[in-house]
Amino acid sequence: MANRLFRKKSVEQILSDSESHGSGLAKILGVRDLVSLGIAAIVGAGIFSTIGLASYNGGPAVSLLFVFVAFACVFTALSYAQFASTVPVSGSAYTYAYVAFGELFAWIIGWALVLEYAVSNMVVAISWSQYFVSMCEGFGIHIPRWLTMAPAYASEAYAKMQEVGEENLSGIDKIGLQAFETAPRIAGFPIIFDLPAGLITVFVTWLVYIGIKESRRASNIMVVIKIGVILAVIFGGLFFVKPENWTPFAPKGLGGVLSGVAAVFFAFIGFDSISTTAEECKNPQRDLPKAMIYCLVICAVLYVAITLVLTGMVNYSELNVKDPLAYVFHYVGFDQMAGIISVTSVIAITSALLVFQLAQPRIWMTMSRDGLLSKKFAKIHPKYKTPSYATIVTGFVVAVPALFMKMDFFVDLTSVGTFFAFILVCGGVLYMDHSGLSEKSKFKVPYVNGKYVVGIGFIVGLVLLYLYGQDGLSEWRTLGTKQVILHKSLVVVFWGTWFVMSIFSFKNNFSLLPVMGILINLYLMSELGASNWLIFIIWLVIGLVIYFMYGYRHSKLNSVKE
Ligand code: ALA
Repeated sequence: MANRLFRKKSVEQILSDSESHGSGLAKILGVRDLVSLGIAAIVGAGIFSTIGLASYNGGPAVSLLFVFVAFACVFTALSYAQFASTVPVSGSAYTYAYVAFGELFAWIIGWALVLEYAVSNMVVAISWSQYFVSMCEGFGIHIPRWLTMAPAYASEAYAKMQEVGEENLSGIDKIGLQAFETAPRIAGFPIIFDLPAGLITVFVTWLVYIGIKESRRASNIMVVIKIGVILAVIFGGLFFVKPENWTPFAPKGLGGVLSGVAAVFFAFIGFDSISTTAEECKNPQRDLPKAMIYCLVICAVLYVAITLVLTGMVNYSELNVKDPLAYVFHYVGFDQMAGIISVTSVIAITSALLVFQLAQPRIWMTMSRDGLLSKKFAKIHPKYKTPSYATIVTGFVVAVPALFMKMDFFVDLTSVGTFFAFILVCGGVLYMDHSGLSEKSKFKVPYVNGKYVVGIGFIVGLVLLYLYGQDGLSEWRTLGTKQVILHKSLVVVFWGTWFVMSIFSFKNNFSLLPVMGILINLYLMSELGASNWLIFIIWLVIGLVIYFMYGYRHSKLNSVKE
């Protein structure tokens, strides 16, 4: 059984499988298109929405968190790029894991990627709806409240009102109460849902369904608009920056900065999605690596600049808002600019939605070709040349929760799943080096020998922890065993992994950059709350049940002689 679970696909086998299936996809994407698709995916709800709360908690120092997270992403992107140049087919990390770690891990990664693409798109759709509603308000169009939010916001607002009184409600609670009070009722139950979030998902799914060419065109236009707005915020905002707002730089200390990990990471998620279009690239081996690095560097620079501008324009304590980019201009009295930003944010967020809606079906398509999902997921539309069934399922999977669910919960969950996938991709490169597979890679992660550096880093890390981490350690002593297991086990896993990596790097001359990718991603992951972890584990267990009920029995590799 273990043989079956860990059976691997060879690169040759993957390429020939894809050739026999993949001739239906149109090969039209070049570097420019890929960078555009990458930026379309990366710059979205994160920088337009979640950066607000992260800056509020961390202050101007969140800009440094963007740099730190960008490094984790660059190391990961290099690893993705090496895989994409070796196995240029649609499945992204899923396919890479099939080559490096075998079928079971491939399935687990494919399942985790649903969190990165489909679940994150629920966040993006809900965030789009918030911007859309406020844009409509700006034009004097009032959509009934009960059609603009998840029912939980309304019921929570109602409960809060009973507790503290209506006059003490503010922000989302005030609006939630209006939704609760004005909603039509069936058998006494208020009917409340987020119609714009559902409709935009249906619209984008339709766009993705009718063709990669149309998607590319739409995405290219939206990206130009999006970059324009971001640059306008940066350069327009510079005139309003007051350097005194940058002091104190980290008002709530390291803890405050790190509480923004999920939000900041969410803002970077998406650079890997372009690897799912490998079969639609003119020259994937050459173009995918370049495109991934280009768009990551561009976005990192833009994010750091935006964070510094936002926290320079207003005091960080003003930034707990859902539309920070527009808000800061309102704050300094530049209302026209704020209006333009509101409208363009709607366009910007649409493009993020589009790329993920494009990526998810292609991963499912690849999994279906391998027999791990029903054959229908690999069906290519005869006219539109897109994975039609998988695209419709993706639309449905994203649209329904977007109608009814709150977004906050999904941000963390997406981050956990994505960190997990990134760590395995970085680990996969070490495996490729070890097994000699790297010889086949047209692009390789630049090799820096990690023989001594990883171990020395570990010792330095321990010394720094001893010198500067006493507060944290004394906090541990106050926690009960259950709390330590719940909240700190990942910290222990992080240090344990670093120790093991030090030994293996010494023995096998591991390449330093993928090792750093693994360690930084793991560290950031350990900063996420325990509840996300529990949900992620439940998610994995459900995935395993599905695998053993379907994929294990239908895998194409069952018919390959071992
Ligand atoms: N990075 C994407 C966004 O911020 C997920 O919307």
